[in-house]
Amino acid sequence: MKSFQWIPCTFCLLLYTADAGSGTKPNFVFMMVDDLGIGDLGCYGNTTLRTPNIDRLALEGVKLTQHIAAAPLCTPSRAAFLTGRYPVRSGMAAHGHMGVFLFSASSGGLPQEEITFAKAVKVQGYSTAVIGKWHLGLNCEDSSDHCHHPNSHGFDYFYGTIMTHLRDCQPGHGSVLYNVYSHIPFKPLSIGLVSLVVLHIRGMLTVSRRVFFSFLILVGLVLSLFRLLVYTFPNLNCFVMRGTEIVEQPYISENLTQRMTSEAIEFLERNSETPFLLFFSFIQVHTGVFASPLFRGRSQHGLYGDAVMEVDWSVGQIMQTLERLNLKDNTLVYMTSDQGPHLEEISVHGEMHGGYSGIYKAGKSTNWEGGIRIPGILSWPGVLPAGKIIDEPTSNMDIFPTVLNLAGASIPDDRVIDGHDLLPLLQGQVKRSEHEFLFHYCNAELNAVRWRPPNSSAIWKAFFFTPDFYPKNSSACFHTHVCFCIKPFVTFHDPPLLYDLSKDPTESTPLSPDTEPQFHSVLEVIRAAVSRHTQSLKPVPVQVSPLKIVWKPWLQPCCSSLSQLCRCERDHQIEKVQDGLQKE
Ligand SMILES: *[C@@H]1O[C@H](CO)[C@@H](O)[C@H](O)[C@H]1NC(C)=O
Repeated sequence: MKSFQWIPCTFCLLLYTADAGSGTKPNFVFMMVDDLGIGDLGCYGNTTLRTPNIDRLALEGVKLTQHIAAAPLCTPSRAAFLTGRYPVRSGMAAHGHMGVFLFSASSGGLPQEEITFAKAVKVQGYSTAVIGKWHLGLNCEDSSDHCHHPNSHGFDYFYGTIMTHLRDCQPGHGSVLYNVYSHIPFKPLSIGLVSLVVLHIRGMLTVSRRVFFSFLILVGLVLSLFRLLVYTFPNLNCFVMRGTEIVEQPYISENLTQRMTSEAIEFLERNSETPFLLFFSFIQVHTGVFASPLFRGRSQHGLYGDAVMEVDWSVGQIMQTLERLNLKDNTLVYMTSDQGPHLEEISVHGEMHGGYSGIYKAGKSTNWEGGIRIPGILSWPGVLPAGKIIDEPTSNMDIFPTVLNLAGASIPDDRVIDGHDLLPLLQGQVKRSEHEFLFHYCNAELNAVRWRPPNSSAIWKAFFFTPDFYPKNSSACFHTHVCFCIKPFVTFHDPPLLYDLSKDPTESTPLSPDTEPQFHSVLEVIRAAVSRHTQSLKPVPVQVSPLKIVWKPWLQPCCSSLSQLCRCERDHQIEKVQDGLQKE
């Protein structure tokens, strides 16, 4: 059996070395879907949602079943993916409520000192592009310094959105801001107001007209400011850029994936002669769920399912292009999601707009497995085995060192890199992952630790705190729309809650000293690992602090004069895509 497995791998190694010797560097195509659940894909067990193109990719390559996002939220997870480092190391993890950027005019972002894989391979002669969602900041001091723009992080070409997609970017889909709105105590306010009037009329209380009207005006002012914010939000935050130019503000979302797909195909065609790195970062299937007319109504799972099918179609288009350009054998393709599905997301029409985490518990913004276990598919015909499944713990931070090694760039030695080169594991040269410990952060709070001891099949996971679900018997935080990482939204555990994922992958029954003889010794090892890890952290400026994520009017990117409310439409892709759709 052993020798059988070794023959193809020795062969592929030979092939690969020959390739490297002849001086051709491999290309990279990375596809990251936004908020896609591991349970949404056929190749990860979904039997009712059809994803044939992604399934084929898994059949042709390696499927990772314990692939872990470095954070359960977009901004920190993406920062970790690009840099190979835990988000706390770059300051991309918040100490408090909000861990993501909500305004394009905030000043935080991925710091200049960080090295992304794009920056590292660019100096090795690669053409680099990010197409789609960025969500790692834009400006620092004025509205066009672009200090955090993809161009400042090693990507030559950018076509996409600086921010995340939100329901505000979809006319008629409501506003994320209504979650804030729902916390305004309208009932007590109106009861108070009516009581005042009644008491006044009955002569039991004399309120001067001045006080009464000032109060009314104040309430009116707050409400109108809020309305104004909701009204202008799409213009200010939902825009498409080509390079550093805004080409559409606000954008029409329905055909975004179609446009990004043709941008990606054009990038591949333009660069088929040079080594390239393409990061295709899907706008779908995040909240504000949309699907183009071609896909609407196609799935059994509503608009969300249609959106997943459109993403799958797009993956197929990219793969067909690689095949047509004869690039498949020299390209490492990676397909993933940034974290688990957003289980709390329900549309204004009451439709479920969040994905499915399969057997795993909970979803996005928690460190239960459903929040961090993501699809991880890597394909490279001739170099990686086809149809292989690997259960070892791996991380989305592993892509960074893997890419640098393959591109012939040296791994930076002036900083901690938390990822490990995946190639030996993928090719079967080693059987075990180099990740003995993985640290699961909820923003900047260390939430849980995973320990994979050498010489054992156990996978221990200890939680220092867990989110409080609402309603209690659900596995979602419906009262806050996403789960938070701090009191009073979490429960702390001392001793930590301990699970063995190898026996209890659904995290259903925490262990105790009675049910697990190693209980105390396991926690002791984990505590020691935490203390070593904590010592390796250096203090850095926090990029997602309240002061950095607030809306700063002087940083607002705007493609027209303010009187036109930042509206414009210069995107030539729109017409091209419309032509294309008509032809189909
Ligand atoms: C497939 O995915 C959809 C969409 O997330 C989900 O509702 C459904 O339960 C999944 N079905 C199976 C059989 O896993």
